[in-house]
Amino acid sequence: MKFNKLCVIGLGYIGLPTASTFAIHGLDVVGVDINPSVIATLNQGQIHIHEPGVQEAFSQAVRVGKFRAANQPEAADAFIIAVPTPFKSEALGEDNGTQYKLADLHAVTSAAEALIPYLRKGNLVILESTSPPRTTADVVAPILEKSGLKAGVDFFLCYSPERVLPGQIMKELIENARVVGGVTPESAQAGKALYATFVKGQIVTTDSTTAEMVKLMENTHRDVNIAIANEFSRLAEKFGVDVWEAIALANLHPRIKILSPGPGVGGHCISVDPWFFVEAAPEIAQLIYHARLVNDAQPRFVVEKVKSILGALQGKKIAALGLAYKPDVDDLRESPASEVIHLLQAEGAQVQAWEPFKPTAQLAGIHMAASLEAALKDAELILLLVKHTQFTTLNPHTLAGQTNAKLALDTVHGWNAELWKQHGFQFFRLGDSKSDSQTNA
Ligand SMILES: NC(=O)c1ccc[n+]([C@@H]2O[C@H](COP(=O)([O-])OP(=O)(O)OC[C@H]3O[C@@H](n4cnc5c(N)ncnc54)[C@H](O)[C@@H]3O)[C@@H](O)[C@H]2O)c1
Repeated sequence: MKFNKLCVIGLGYIGLPTASTFAIHGLDVVGVDINPSVIATLNQGQIHIHEPGVQEAFSQAVRVGKFRAANQPEAADAFIIAVPTPFKSEALGEDNGTQYKLADLHAVTSAAEALIPYLRKGNLVILESTSPPRTTADVVAPILEKSGLKAGVDFFLCYSPERVLPGQIMKELIENARVVGGVTPESAQAGKALYATFVKGQIVTTDSTTAEMVKLMENTHRDVNIAIANEFSRLAEKFGVDVWEAIALANLHPRIKILSPGPGVGGHCISVDPWFFVEAAPEIAQLIYHARLVNDAQPRFVVEKVKSILGALQGKKIAALGLAYKPDVDDLRESPASEVIHLLQAEGAQVQAWEPFKPTAQLAGIHMAASLEAALKDAELILLLVKHTQFTTLNPHTLAGQTNAKLALDTVHGWNAELWKQHGFQFFRLGDSKSDSQTNA
């Protein structure tokens, strides 16, 4: 099967690297986004996301005349939908006392609607957005069939999950194994042929619902495993144990691999996708549901630890280091660090946040410091929330001269406790009551 022209709908962390990679591998690519500032930025030759290698690939694609940005789709041989699938912020679902977040499929349905006028016989449509089980067959297919064409008969329709790691997207896009699920076996084969343009990893075909479930299972598996690590951090504090030491020792067992605890779980994927299972089958997905509750409550656990160090938080000055949802990325979506800051502020603390990857970010109710130095200057407590390399390499000797703070709380095991103590700080770590300094509170 031959594809000359591709239309990629949604030009974010997934769509833009995907569109650029197809373009530099020879396809004519039209990238579509509803956000005019995304299109304007791309038309000026710049990209709007922070991801290594994407600017270079994008610039190359434009230079060889293979990429154009547009605000609406156009006729093509294949279409990829890579729009967001968040949850609804304003409504919750409920089933027998289980309250759950609801998937917001608005972007997927409007992207599919936008394709209807351009869909032709023989086209291929692939949904890449992480979606609840059966979305491709039960939601996307009926919308596209309003064109008068039948999915799996007149056009090919697939679901193919994106499994790249932010920070390594350009490499993993090419090297990772890819699952392509078709509404028919022929659809899956067509999807496989498209990805074979550049994918070097194995390309495995299946049905569309299995492919949707694979993606949700991967992220749910991580969420549940982080939840147990977070619960272990709470148990360790209760029993006077250092959870980090205990995890390292447990992981010496050849069949145990406990993940790291932290201030919660964030990002666009792991904190969102398990809800898709809970919403779709609340009576079954009980372990998944409770893991979500544990991870969502971890910011509160951090705040309780801060209170055990500082006492009542009213008027207390705190420097919060990191707002991204994980180390060395600029993605602030669903970040537990923001939640920690909101909870601290709700108790009267004055928090100055510093995020080196997005220093000018505007987040409702969060005061961003102008620099690391400004965040630290008047602080009483330095709170490490993200394990950015820029933070783990900070030298407490230098910092001691830049801040009034004599207290440091590390929620991610980013700092060496002994070093900080040597330089005059009282040092505390999430999940580690063994090496915590004595509290003043
Ligand atoms: N970011 C990741 O690391 C990652 C990894 C795996 C899977 N995913 C999944 O991929 C999907 C996309 O995620 P992302 O991180 O690229 O999102 P993103 O927010 O970075 O980008 C999505 C883009 O789609 C645009 N958009 C929204 N509605 C649109 C519409 N109707 N038509 C055209 N454009 C539209 C937005 O303006 C935005 O630029 C999500 O379902 C996500 O869960 C993301």
